[in-house]
Amino acid sequence: MSTVVLIGAQWGDEGKGKITDFLARQAEVVVRSQGGNNAGHTVVVDDKEYKLHLIPSGILYPEKLCVIGNGVVIDPKVLLEEIDYLAENGIQTDNLRISSSAHVIMPYHKKLDELQEERRGNKKIGTTKRGIGPCYMDKIARTGIRIIDLINANDFKETLGSALQDKNYLFDKVYNTTGFELQEIYDEYMQYAERIRPYVTDTSVLINKAIDERRDVLFEGAQGTLLDIDHGTYPFVTSSYPTSGGACVGSGVGPTKIDSVLGVVKAYTTRVGEGPFPTELRNEMGDQIRKAGHEFGTTTGRPRRCGWMDAVILRYAARINGLTGIAVTKLDVLDGLETLKICTAYKYQGEILNEFPSSLKVLEQCQPVYEELPGWQQETSEIEDYNDLPQNAKRYLHRLEELSGVKIDMVSVGPGRKQTIVINNTF
Ligand code: IMP
Repeated sequence: MSTVVLIGAQWGDEGKGKITDFLARQAEVVVRSQGGNNAGHTVVVDDKEYKLHLIPSGILYPEKLCVIGNGVVIDPKVLLEEIDYLAENGIQTDNLRISSSAHVIMPYHKKLDELQEERRGNKKIGTTKRGIGPCYMDKIARTGIRIIDLINANDFKETLGSALQDKNYLFDKVYNTTGFELQEIYDEYMQYAERIRPYVTDTSVLINKAIDERRDVLFEGAQGTLLDIDHGTYPFVTSSYPTSGGACVGSGVGPTKIDSVLGVVKAYTTRVGEGPFPTELRNEMGDQIRKAGHEFGTTTGRPRRCGWMDAVILRYAARINGLTGIAVTKLDVLDGLETLKICTAYKYQGEILNEFPSSLKVLEQCQPVYEELPGWQQETSEIEDYNDLPQNAKRYLHRLEELSGVKIDMVSVGPGRKQTIVINNTF
C-alpha cells in the first residue's frame, strides 16, 4: 500500500487531470485537499471527455472512495451541478464524502471577488472570480461558514446573519453597491444543505482509517506550486496551499503518513492570469505552442501564456514539495520543433541566480539563461515505451532529471490513458 501526493510543479494546468486519473485507477481512495472550483480537470475515459472542477476525478470509477477534504472551499451550487452532470452521464456519486469542516463559498464571496478585482485596476490578480480568495479570507478571519454550520439549520441562520451584516456594510460603505437579503440566501442554501447532508462526515477519520488498513490513497492536486499562497509568486497566487504540505493540512493526515510526492510538469511552461513569467514567449513560437497544446483554460476559457521549460522553477518545486518523482506531460506538443530551450538559471542585474527569487520585483527583471537542445522530428503520441522515444526527446527528459535532481516516473504523450509511458510505478 502507499500514499501519494500529486502536485502541480508550475503555475497550474500541468495536465494533472490525466495523471490523477491514471493513478486514481490504482488508488482506492482519492482526496482533494485544497482550493475549490477555480480548478479544472479534464479527464478522458474511453474517449469521453469529463470536465471536473470540485469532485475528485476518482469519481469516474464506481468503487473508489472520493473525499473533499477540510482544506477545500465548496460552492454548494457548483458541487450539486457537478453531481447532476455526473448523474446525467451515468456516473454515481454514492462514494463521495465531504468534510464537515470545509468552508462554504457564499454569494457575497463571488461578488467580492469581482469587486476586488475591479478595484485593483491594472494591478488585478486575474482571479477566476469564483469567490475563492474572499472565502479563504473569511476562514482566516474566523468569520467563515463551514459545511457543518450549513447543514445545521438553526446555527446557519445565526452565522449567516452576522456574516451578512458585516458584508452588507462593506458593500454599502466601501463598494457603494447593494448587498444581499438574509432570507433569500438562507432559503437557497437550505435547499443545498438538504442535498449535501448525506455526503458529509469527518473525512480525516475516513482517510486515516484507510491508511491504517493499508489501502492506496491518492491526494490529487489542484493549481500549482507557483500559485501557493506562501511559496508562489505572491500576490499573483491563489489563496490556498497547492504544495505538498497542503495535502496534509487540508485533509487531516500527518506528514509521516505520506510515502511519495509526484510533481506534474508540463514539457514547457504556461500561466493564466497576471504576474511575471521569465520564459514567456510573446511571439510566434508562443502562439504555436498554445495552438498545439490547446492552451485555453478549462475553468475560464482564457488563453494561457506559453513559454519554454524553466528548470529554476522545477528545482524550486522539487525543494518546496520534497518531490520523489516527476511526471512530464504534453511532450508530444514539442514534436517537430527544430530546437528547444531550457532555462537553467536567471540573470539579474548581471548576476546569475540559481534559486527562484522570493521578490516579484527581482523576478520581473530576471532574464532567462537558456541552454539549447536539438528537437525531434518525429511524432511521439503513439509511443508506449520509453526506449522507443526519439533520442533527442530522451536527451531532453534526461536533462530535466539532471537539472531538478528528481527522476522522471512518467511521460505523457497525449490526452488518452494509453498515451502514458510509465518508467517507475508511483504506487
Ligand atoms: P483564484 O484562485 O481564483 O483566486 O485566482 C488566483 C490566481 O490563481 C489567478 O492567477 C488564477 O488564474 C490562478 N488559478 C487559480 N486556479 C487555477 C488553476 O486551476 N490553474 C491555473 N491557474 C489557476
